Amino acid sequence: MTVMVVGGAGYIGAHVVRLLQEAGVGVVVVDDLSTSNAGRIGDSPLVELDAASPEAVEVFRRTIREYDVDSVIHFAARKQVGESMERPLYYYAQNVGGLVNVLEAMQAEDVKKIIFSSSAAVYGMPQNVDMVIEETPCEPINPYGRTKLIGEYILADCARAWGLSYAALRYFNVAGAGWPELGDEAILNLMTMVFDRLERGERPLVFGDDYLTEDGTCIRDYVHVKDLAVAHIKALDVLDKPGSEHVFNVGTGTGASVLEVIEAIGRASGRDTTPIIKERRPGDPPRLVASAKKIERDLDFVSTTGLDEIVDTAWKAWRFQHD
Ligand SMILES: NC(=O)c1ccc[n+]([C@@H]2O[C@H](COP(=O)([O-])OP(=O)(O)OC[C@H]3O[C@@H](n4cnc5c(N)ncnc54)[C@H](O)[C@@H]3O)[C@@H](O)[C@H]2O)c1
Repeated sequence: MTVMVVGGAGYIGAHVVRLLQEAGVGVVVVDDLSTSNAGRIGDSPLVELDAASPEAVEVFRRTIREYDVDSVIHFAARKQVGESMERPLYYYAQNVGGLVNVLEAMQAEDVKKIIFSSSAAVYGMPQNVDMVIEETPCEPINPYGRTKLIGEYILADCARAWGLSYAALRYFNVAGAGWPELGDEAILNLMTMVFDRLERGERPLVFGDDYLTEDGTCIRDYVHVKDLAVAHIKALDVLDKPGSEHVFNVGTGTGASVLEVIEAIGRASGRDTTPIIKERRPGDPPRLVASAKKIERDLDFVSTTGLDEIVDTAWKAWRFQHD
């Protein structure tokens, strides 16, 4: 059995690749290395390819045959919300087009199992919801979130048309590092943004402290990237039945506020993290916390890593990159 991991050199993908390698499962990575590097995937073979390019279907088909691929994990996507609002067509071409190419190759080569990186962004701004369940209405508020929801629709249509089995994993806030060398190199989420400011001798920024939450700052569900990687390995096991469709939140069921994260960063780094309070940003829901019950019930998956350990591993990975 070989798993083709598309986008496998990236932050989350490289963690899954590492776990598959440790389990002795065959892996081939397909990646254009646009936000990553080949050093992150160890000895696994790499096919360098833009999944959305005109030649992609043919290259995917060749790769499936050459490595005897029987399942696919699809991480490759553009993930910057702001950029997606400025360049929507690029996001649809990359995220939707790339997925369509992978699926075309899979259908042609009779490969019927895929795990897809979806996102909490599919929910948009759920109002007055304490815990987001999978049935919470999906109303994404930006092109990035819409590319993920469209991806889920495409998978469902393929399941019904030709027996594709899929698991769409809606990740909440992914952070931390399972190995220091596999940290998040992008400065796009709260932790790496705070690290970056501390590094430059600046104080962390907090956008809004007047939300209707306990300390007034936004609450998110932080899931450790290695726990998330384990969820992928478990999800592979439920794809054997043809045409099976699974959609799971991947989170912890517990929220942490922006101020709580910044305090945890202070503890991990030993730095002064007294923040500067700024205006709210548009499009930030006050609270976004996953109900993690469905994935616990169906995959026996529970994410147990707490905030301090997430922040600590993220900080160590940051130091590994920057020292
Ligand atoms: N990081 C998060 O908090 C988060 C949250 C929700 C969902 N996601 C989703 O998880 C997936 C992985 O995210 P990540 O944080 O590891 O991002 P990342 O940028 O580190 O990884 C993406 C990988 O895919 C590759 N890639 C991107 N576009 C490609 C293309 N067209 N062809 C081939 N390779 C391509 C990149 O080079 C990179 O190696 C993405 O689909 C993202 O939307 C991430």
